[in-house]
Amino acid sequence: MATVPEKRDLVVLGIETSCDETAAALVRREASGKGVLLANLVRSQLALHAEFGGVVPEIAARAHVELLDRLIAEALSESRLGWEEIDGVAATAGPGLIGGLIVGVTTAKAIALARGLPFIAVNHLEAHALTPGLTHGLRFPYLLLLVSGGHTQLLIVKDVGSYTRLGTTLDDALGEAFDKAAKLLGLSYPGGPAVEECAKRGRATIALPRPMLGRSEPHFSLAGLKTALRHEAMKREPLGKQDVADLCASFQEAAVDVVSDRTGRAMELYVDALGPDAQKALVVAGGVAANQRLRAALAGAAAEQGFALILPPAELCTDNAAMVAWAGAERLARGLVDDLAAPSRARWPLDPDAAPAIGAGVKA
Ligand code: KG4
Ligand code: ZN
Repeated sequence: MATVPEKRDLVVLGIETSCDETAAALVRREASGKGVLLANLVRSQLALHAEFGGVVPEIAARAHVELLDRLIAEALSESRLGWEEIDGVAATAGPGLIGGLIVGVTTAKAIALARGLPFIAVNHLEAHALTPGLTHGLRFPYLLLLVSGGHTQLLIVKDVGSYTRLGTTLDDALGEAFDKAAKLLGLSYPGGPAVEECAKRGRATIALPRPMLGRSEPHFSLAGLKTALRHEAMKREPLGKQDVADLCASFQEAAVDVVSDRTGRAMELYVDALGPDAQKALVVAGGVAANQRLRAALAGAAAEQGFALILPPAELCTDNAAMVAWAGAERLARGLVDDLAAPSRARWPLDPDAAPAIGAGVKA
């Protein structure tokens, strides 16, 4: 197996193919622990999936095959680096759509083998979780709220490879709930930005439930909110423009209330677990972190409990390969490398010891 470098600057190539973004990036991790982004390329497959109203796994995997080699070459040329300057190759090995994962992992392994470089199998959730180390130089520990199309989790990030899951969703992910709300209201895909835009013209006056509010464990449940929205929409049919805007505003308000409440509870549990002297920082990552209403509500909730709110820039909150390269570099610096036989994993929890959330479905 390729040797692990001693303490020095490390340059890592990262590959991301777990969903519908094909991405390649290069980062340098200086011996001090500081991160420098050298190239960050993302090709969204949005247009390929839009007509289906969601990601089609086979189409995604095929598109990754077609795009990836070229993207890696572009990342190298943008960073003006040659292969001899690369110290490791990292790819998202899970969780995600298995066909896409295999494309990225196999490509990374082939490069590692051909160039005699270490291979690092990166957990996609860990890549999101470690991003503030790259963007803000944030040290451990901190609290992470990860809200994307596939994940809704609250985690204590204690160190690389050391996580405590405080909360998860029992059913739909937050972004998925926005996407489903948009679909049932006839808005475009992806639904989150469409719902947010439409909500600006609406009044949040329609009563919708706030599932799990006030519960002691900071889990989420969003399927009931979506069902309630469907009932309210049916009552108003045929829907006029103002109805749709009011439904969007009401839905967004309910979702934001739930997330602030659950995150507030997680901040209490974080302090209980780590003590009052632990660094109080709340990091928000994932595509839904782009939502302005959510950002404002979380800023309020964080300030109330004395937490600093850390929001990585939008392009590093949504799926990207810079976070994969960075997670790879963090692992490589600690000698955590993987065998070329390491598998791709559709499911790969960050905290395997977390007690299952009662009633949790497939997403937990
Ligand atoms: O992290 P991401 O780009 O991809 C993964 O799911 O991994 O997140 C995409 C999700 C989609 O569900 C999208 O509707 C949601 O993030 N989203 C938003 C907003 N922008 C993106 N949800 C609410 N408001 C937004 N402004
Ligand atoms: Zn993601």
